[in-house]
Amino acid sequence: MNAASLFASAPAGAETTDVVLRANSVVKSFVGPDKVRRTVVNQVSLDLARGETLGIVGESGSGKSTLARIALALETPDSGDVEFLGRPWTSAPAADQRAIRRRIAVVYQDPFERFDPRWRVSRILTDAIELGDPENAHRAADRAVELLETVGLGREHLAAWPRQMSGGQRQRVAIARAIATRPEVIVLDEAVSALDVSVQAQILDLLTDLQQQAGRQLICSSPTT
Ligand SMILES: Nc1ncnc2c1ncn2[C@@H]1O[C@H](COP(=O)(O)OP(=O)(O)O)[C@@H](O)[C@H]1O
Ligand SMILES: [Mg+2]
Repeated sequence: MNAASLFASAPAGAETTDVVLRANSVVKSFVGPDKVRRTVVNQVSLDLARGETLGIVGESGSGKSTLARIALALETPDSGDVEFLGRPWTSAPAADQRAIRRRIAVVYQDPFERFDPRWRVSRILTDAIELGDPENAHRAADRAVELLETVGLGREHLAAWPRQMSGGQRQRVAIARAIATRPEVIVLDEAVSALDVSVQAQILDLLTDLQQQAGRQLICSSPTT
């Protein structure tokens, strides 16, 4: 990566150093509109251990989202690879990737752009449950309420349209959708950048709670300010 930096923090008292997600010398380049190829992610290696939060900090264009997309296997690196629990992930066959995919969730900066504008909150969540948590598919409506309560919202938000919600509430819905599949790793790509500072703090507190309750691992990207 050009200018972006990596920071890791493990919770106090963390006992194990199991690596959940590991990137090995990942390289990615793109050809720009000027036909010049530029290396955007340059030999990045990282280990995300159990219970750990990994921060990726860098200015706009430094490759944070590209690295996040590679970690999600939405983008193929030019060289290097990513392992999930010791197994190849980015280079695995599509069928194996499907099994891992629901164990790694993502929350983007502006969830509004990612929600189907024709869907209320209830459909956003029940859709995620039906696709990603088959065990709860028969009780998707109840599970949706549980998810809303987990992120500090409630049953009354089921009928809401995302466009009627505040930025912080929308991001809570996006987090509820992300955890619907009970992921072990959550990738947060500038997930609080668009929010007011006080709301950012609330969402970061929520993410810390979710991490501690479920022993999840987080990868968070943030712009340099
Ligand atoms: N699919 C793509 N095709 C061409 N260039 C891309 C593509 N994705 C990202 N880039 C370029 O890679 C660089 C890094 O982008 P990105 O990973 O989005 O950075 P960040 O998230 O840190 O702002 C930018 O110059 C961007 O234009
Ligand atoms: Mg980005």
